[in-house]
Amino acid sequence: MRRFLQDWAHLLLPAGVLIAGLGVFLVIRAAVVPKSFGEYGHYRGAALEMIRQKPVSYAGQDMCVMCHDDQAKVKAAGKHATVHCEACHGPLAKHAEDPAANVPKLPDVAVLCKRCHEQDPAKPSWFPQVVTAEHSGGMKCTECHQPHSPHIATEADAGSGRGK
Ligand code: HEC
Ligand code: HEC
Ligand code: HEC
Ligand code: HEC
Repeated sequence: MRRFLQDWAHLLLPAGVLIAGLGVFLVIRAAVVPKSFGEYGHYRGAALEMIRQKPVSYAGQDMCVMCHDDQAKVKAAGKHATVHCEACHGPLAKHAEDPAANVPKLPDVAVLCKRCHEQDPAKPSWFPQVVTAEHSGGMKCTECHQPHSPHIATEADAGSGRGK
């Protein structure tokens, strides 16, 4: 130990390199880390204000239900109960704010239903899926299915307890 302390001179160079490296690191860090980083947590505090500036585009289902009681009731009782209005109708915050000035276009059924129901082996097997072209025979899905309550009762349902 004593000998080691006597020969400490050889430690000066690596120590110097280490301290210089640390200095360079601190200078670069000060230059690239944004000022508000760490203000509230491990993120940029100013990001909160930036996000707040973005316009809100989704109104949320609770809003739709207040004015569209009929569709809401039909949907809540059917197989699309868990699919929220704006998942199909798209973001409608502007419509909810001023319904008459921003009347929404109805969804394009030809692309809408496929988006969720086209058969795909990657989907869980319990999820209702069809080869849409074969299944519909080229007809519009809504010729047979009510979009807000799409289940069609079949003989297999009798006694099986399957809902609408
Ligand atoms: C403040 C009440 C109000 C809210 C909230 C509201 N709507 Fe509406 N909505 C209306 C009214 C009123 C109309 C009819 C507008 C017109 O034709 O002048 C309408 C029309 C529509 C239409 C077009 C109907 C058609 O026959 O073309 C759709 C689709 C619709 N709303 C969906 C939604 C969805 C989805 C939401 C939730 C994001 C929503 N609305 C929120 C009042 C509301
Ligand atoms: C699974 C997709 C889907 C969901 C979820 C959905 N809609 Fe629709 N909605 C449609 C389609 C498709 C049409 C157009 C039907 C047509 O073209 O005949 C439609 C039509 C409408 C219309 C026009 C009038 C009518 O009844 O046809 C209103 C209003 C409406 N939806 C409101 C809502 C509201 C409110 C919710 C949520 C409570 C909702 N929709 C949820 C797909 C959906
Ligand atoms: C955003 C995804 C989404 C869209 C878009 C959508 N669906 Fe669905 N659909 C679902 C979910 C989720 C279920 C319920 C699955 C479950 O819980 O069993 C469902 C259930 C169904 C069922 C019931 C199957 C049964 O058990 O009888 C039918 C039929 C159906 N959808 C048809 C349609 C049609 C027609 C359209 C277009 C108007 C459509 N869906 C659009 C997600 C969607
Ligand atoms: C000619 C009428 C008709 C048309 C058009 C039609 N369907 Fe169906 N669909 C049915 C009937 C009847 C059933 C219930 C019997 C069954 O499960 O095959 C059904 C069942 C379904 C199911 C449930 C399958 C399951 O495994 O539970 C889904 C999902 C579905 N249809 C989606 C669609 C989509 C998406 C379209 C448009 C591309 C469409 N359907 C067009 C008549 C139709």
